[in-house]
Amino acid sequence: MRIEIPKPVENIEEILNRAVFSKKDLLFLLHAKDKDRLKLFEKAKETKLAFVGRKVYFRGLIEYSNFCNKNCFYCGIRAGNSRFARYQMTDEEVLEAVRYAFENHYASIVIQSGERTNKTFVSKIESLLKKIGTLTQNEIHVTLSLGEQSEETYRRWFDAGAHRYLLRIEVSNPGLYVKLHPANLRHDYQRRLAALRTLRRVGYQVGTGVMIGLPFQTLDDLADDLLFFREFDIDMAGMGPYIEHVDTPLYQYRESLLPLKERFDLSLKMVAILRIMMKDINIAATTAMQTIDPQGREKALMVGANVIMPNLTPVKYRQDYLLYENKPCLDEEAEECKSCLEARIHMAGDTIGYGEWGDSKHFIGKKKKKSASRD
Ligand code: 5AD
Ligand code: SF4
Ligand code: FES
Repeated sequence: MRIEIPKPVENIEEILNRAVFSKKDLLFLLHAKDKDRLKLFEKAKETKLAFVGRKVYFRGLIEYSNFCNKNCFYCGIRAGNSRFARYQMTDEEVLEAVRYAFENHYASIVIQSGERTNKTFVSKIESLLKKIGTLTQNEIHVTLSLGEQSEETYRRWFDAGAHRYLLRIEVSNPGLYVKLHPANLRHDYQRRLAALRTLRRVGYQVGTGVMIGLPFQTLDDLADDLLFFREFDIDMAGMGPYIEHVDTPLYQYRESLLPLKERFDLSLKMVAILRIMMKDINIAATTAMQTIDPQGREKALMVGANVIMPNLTPVKYRQDYLLYENKPCLDEEAEECKSCLEARIHMAGDTIGYGEWGDSKHFIGKKKKKSASRD
């Protein structure tokens, strides 16, 4: 007969000091309350300090266009929503925003828009990238967030000067993915995954992320999302709470959602756990965090985030780029967002890495290892 020795009750310190978290550990951490919750946050803070330091990097956000061919059930600018005007910034407007970023030593920008794959759009982005390179003598780093594209397109944009790419997997559970998207090839989980792999192959620093607190989503799903990030060995992450939008199909499930405060708290925990799991990646303090809590972005910085995206989109377009409701900074010009974020970052006890690209240390480390193994 085998005698079962009872296992001691799980202890948070012991879990936090493990080199590798198991799914069970992740669930324990996602459930953490009171003192345990604070210990998780403290460990994340220490990890950030030790591995990426206290510098926060700016990514000037240009919301280039709200035209989108897709119909994700959660998103306010989905193709099926005709209750707002569609726009695309002119080249001059984009270059003006880039000039502002450059002159203010942001060192990096993000160009984001709805998803379009037609030839005109692809060429437009390519020519814009070249113009940005000329304007800034290739000194500004460019992140793209323009959805799923062919390998050829990803390559053309990379060759034209883009360095990083953000493509959120949104949810890593394929069964949940189908509930949040129309059932067709344009919204296919496997294709999205393949696009992430292609980005990696082409040479981008690859960022992904998920929404937190979606209808039908469980803590088990969130634990799997964290395992997905580790397994995929991502360089950057952007995660934030799901926030319902009245003109979307998912709005009908609003009564079943976690209260906003809980969605926010779970998002903080996801940031904190990810920082401990993947110590040297870049993690964004996302705008959606601030939508729920006025100090949301500072709080994310305090538990591990190290990137922030000041909005550079001309104010006249901001009302029309509402992926979710109550988005902040609708009336604030670039200058106001800059000083607002400077104050917030200092309040969080961090400094701003002006003039530094702030590339993912994780990516740089991988690159070094690769070239060492070739020598
Ligand atoms: N709430 C929160 N985030 C959203 N996004 C889209 N719709 C919503 C919403 N309702 C996020 C998606 C997308 C990113 C650009 O915005 O994760 O990848
Ligand atoms: Fe389009 Fe992106 Fe919104 Fe989906 S989440 S509808 S791809 S802008
Ligand atoms: Fe835009 Fe605070 S970041 S006003």
